[in-house]
Amino acid sequence: MGNFIDFNTARKLQEMQSQQNKITELFSIKYPIIQAGMIWHSGWRLASAVSNCGGLGLIGAGSMYPDVLRENIQKCKQATDKPFGVNVPMLYPNLDEVIQIILEEGVKIVFTSAGNPKTYTETLQKEGLKVAHVVSSTKFAMKCEDAGVDAIVAEGFEAGGHNGRDETTTFCLIPNVRKHISKPLIAAGGIALGSQMKAAMILGADGVQIGSRFAATLEASAHENWKKKITELHEGDTHLTLKELAPVRMVKNKFFNELEEIYNVGRNKESLIASLGRARAKRGMFEGDMEEGELEIGQVSALIDEVLPVETVFRNLLQEFEDAKMPNF
Ligand SMILES: Cc1cc2nc3c(=O)[nH]c(=O)nc-3n(C[C@H](O)[C@H](O)[C@H](O)COP(=O)(O)O)c2cc1C
Repeated sequence: MGNFIDFNTARKLQEMQSQQNKITELFSIKYPIIQAGMIWHSGWRLASAVSNCGGLGLIGAGSMYPDVLRENIQKCKQATDKPFGVNVPMLYPNLDEVIQIILEEGVKIVFTSAGNPKTYTETLQKEGLKVAHVVSSTKFAMKCEDAGVDAIVAEGFEAGGHNGRDETTTFCLIPNVRKHISKPLIAAGGIALGSQMKAAMILGADGVQIGSRFAATLEASAHENWKKKITELHEGDTHLTLKELAPVRMVKNKFFNELEEIYNVGRNKESLIASLGRARAKRGMFEGDMEEGELEIGQVSALIDEVLPVETVFRNLLQEFEDAKMPNF
């Protein structure tokens, strides 16, 4: 990523770095841009590419068997000498084994999500790791602060993947979390452009976590059908569903319509579980079945019209960040 230095924005960005941003300092990275952990997308290729660009790449442990996670961590260490981390959604099995592998492999940063921040924070910090936890409300952000996490990711309702039930948007969530916590704060949900990143930072975030935009990159491990589909989505094509189980934003395809029908006949939890139990997320995002599979993506997909290399996404983000100015009024 040496050519970033020649880029127009380099001087301004260096100023940004020299201001000792809380996130760049905490994770020893160059830019306060975190690539979200994403099931079926964020293996070692994506994580190392982002880290090599000066952001923080996260391997998504959620869709990996323990031995696959270990292999991804080892390959990531070979592919980058920059910091990277692992995202551990606490919804999935084998959690203790996953944490053990993270410790054995010498990972330095963990982002936990979908669970209690108290469960692993102290254990990991005692071993010298930095821990961030993902929340979707100010109430839970305050719980994270009590649990002693090093950083908090506040994720708005726009975001792809699992989300909160309250439907609080990033625009409303970030200032409120900022008002109540003093820990380093990372905004997530609806950020794919540098202007959106700047807006989030003006609202009080110290950095951003980006999922959907990195899902449609060459380095993401998702199926090509799915990456192409992301570039064709429009406003209104995604919806937050499964609020009774684990709320998740997904594309309104045949599978989504089946879920809606189940709702219409009386919100039968067992049918929902049976329907999801058939590995629908893998079928959609990893195996490329655009109708029968579960397709998780954020509202911001409407702004994504090309599958790009990570390096280009990064360059665009930095340029747009620099270009974003207040209009006169
Ligand atoms: C395909 C997909 C898979 C995701 N998987 C996970 C996951 O495994 N763990 C997690 O904490 N968040 C997951 N998320 C949420 C992201 O980590 C991130 O917070 C979110 O994508 C940010 O919003 P954006 O999509 O608008 O950028 C996922 C999001 C997407 C789009």
